[in-house]
Amino acid sequence: MSDKKDYVIYQGEDICGIRRASEAAARVRDQLPAMVRPGMSTKEIDNIAAALIHSIGGVSAFLGYRGYPGQICISVNDEVVHGIGRPDRFVNNGDLVSLDIGVNIGGYIGDTAVSFVLGGTNDPDTLRLLNNTRRALEEGMKAAVAGNYVKNISAAVEKVAKSAKLGIVREYCGHGCGKTLHDPPEIPNYVSFNRGPQLRPGMVLAIEPMLNLGTSKVITESDGWTVRTSDGKLSAHFEHMVLITESKPEILTWLK
Ligand code: MF3
Ligand code: CO
Ligand code: CO
Repeated sequence: MSDKKDYVIYQGEDICGIRRASEAAARVRDQLPAMVRPGMSTKEIDNIAAALIHSIGGVSAFLGYRGYPGQICISVNDEVVHGIGRPDRFVNNGDLVSLDIGVNIGGYIGDTAVSFVLGGTNDPDTLRLLNNTRRALEEGMKAAVAGNYVKNISAAVEKVAKSAKLGIVREYCGHGCGKTLHDPPEIPNYVSFNRGPQLRPGMVLAIEPMLNLGTSKVITESDGWTVRTSDGKLSAHFEHMVLITESKPEILTWLK
């Protein structure tokens, strides 16, 4: 039996530090998509992200994490998460690009992700995927209130995913986040056997549905990182960090 605490409560200056790092991550997330141009390599995108992160006084929270070699994660089309920037992988109009950004400022971490189609799209299935993955995150965040359990967040995400007939990735979850990238608890995007800890003011949670147009099954590439759908269909990923409060959750990765 592990005696590891199943959640972390932050207060005072720690909350201020997490707010700052989250805001920095949110800024990069919001600025980067407009800087991605058709024909760019994912390595170039990674370089631009690094420059943005450094210009606001941060460093990547991902680089070196368990040996991860990139500054951010760039996952294209059927890639779900953890895509590494590569000089020989190019993005073009019509590609679904997911950017996951982690910023460390002074030992505090912000983690946030967005998906979009380069140049836009009218494809109904792609729009169903993007709109409902975003909505699943929103509904999950609404359930992130003191007194609820982690399971209530999972149930809210799962309900949206199921009603939109999207595959839910089960191998990767949301998580606590603050002084380390991955604090307990895990936040599955489906209801699991255990209700998880009760939500309490001071908990900081990264909620991050990863939903697929087809199967929920994923495989990891031979690079040891890149996760893709096993049927080659599209995947989307949105992520926000929230602070549990006495009332409504504070969305730390919304820009003020
Ligand atoms: N950002 C991912 C998450 O949302 C984790 C990335 S781990 C890395 O939890 F090693 F790939 F950076
Ligand atoms: Co992330
Ligand atoms: Co995360």
